[in-house]
Amino acid sequence: MADLQRHFDRTIEQDRRVEPRDWMPDGYRATMVRQIAQHAHSEIIGMQPEGEWITRAPTLRRKAILLAKVQDEAGHGLYLYSAAETLGADRSELTAMLIEGRQKYSSIFNYPTLGYADVGVIGWLVDGAAICNQVPLCRSSYGPYARAMIRICKEESFHQRQGYELLLTMMKGTPAQRDMVQDAVNRWWWPSLMMFGPPDDASPNTARSMAWKIKRHTNDELRQRFVDMTVPQAEVLGVTLPDPELRWNPERGHHDFGPVDWSELKRVISGDGPCNARRVAVRRSAHEDGAWVREAAVAHARKTARRTAPDAETTSADAGATVMDVGTTNADAGATSADAGTAAGAEARA
Ligand SMILES: [Fe+2]
Ligand SMILES: [Fe+2]
Repeated sequence: MADLQRHFDRTIEQDRRVEPRDWMPDGYRATMVRQIAQHAHSEIIGMQPEGEWITRAPTLRRKAILLAKVQDEAGHGLYLYSAAETLGADRSELTAMLIEGRQKYSSIFNYPTLGYADVGVIGWLVDGAAICNQVPLCRSSYGPYARAMIRICKEESFHQRQGYELLLTMMKGTPAQRDMVQDAVNRWWWPSLMMFGPPDDASPNTARSMAWKIKRHTNDELRQRFVDMTVPQAEVLGVTLPDPELRWNPERGHHDFGPVDWSELKRVISGDGPCNARRVAVRRSAHEDGAWVREAAVAHARKTARRTAPDAETTSADAGATVMDVGTTNADAGATSADAGTAAGAEARA
């Protein structure tokens, strides 16, 4: 046991990756499963706020971009659930924990999208904050997570750019369009800063995650990096970030910013945000509506297994289980579009 622990410690110390076959402390495994699962849930729930706008996109080009973006988020969720499975987690159990409210996802997705400018602001600020958080995770000590993050980050950078480009276009439009952008920035700015988690002095797990090199920077470091990166972009756009205390501090070489309302984060995390109940309800009904897809996929895998090699039945049934979750995600996107479709259809007919 001491040998195994020493080997693990050396792996971390020398900046090598911990792989699924390696021994790891129980605490490390549990922390990784929890972090990866919450990340996966965030990607899947994160499809909803923007997915609601797919059928109401103003042009075909915007619809194609938004569809691609929302599908990317489904893909991110699937890579991450797969990464969690390499640690021995069961994907259907993780889904159960999400829809029963036993496991969390990023609180940012509990805010509503009120207009199409929100799609741009989510791309710019929310995906922008996600990039700040996730780029260092490409060097996270757990191999499958770090490798999944490389591809995810490339796609996140497309998400950020499409959002910013949408906002640039709207800012060149009518005064009403510029007002929509400013209003969306006012609503999303502070929740975006909360995406980095509580301040360092109230984040007891940070030290351990840093020691294990799961995390490379503290919450406050990443939040500062995000603010410094975003301020010049806001100037180019011509929007005002809703913080009267925001200003460049030449001594620190960083922007100072006003206090974040941590009681709001606490409230939203504990279930009392504007959309918590709706997000989980949509996810639950998509899961229930997708049951027939999962059953059909498993039945098909069994049939194929019987035809090809009678001994291979168990393995193929497992493959079927992987297909079934893809089915769920598609059904999920379908449910979201269907909801938006009803509203948009009603508008079009009116
Ligand atoms: Fe994503
Ligand atoms: Fe994204």
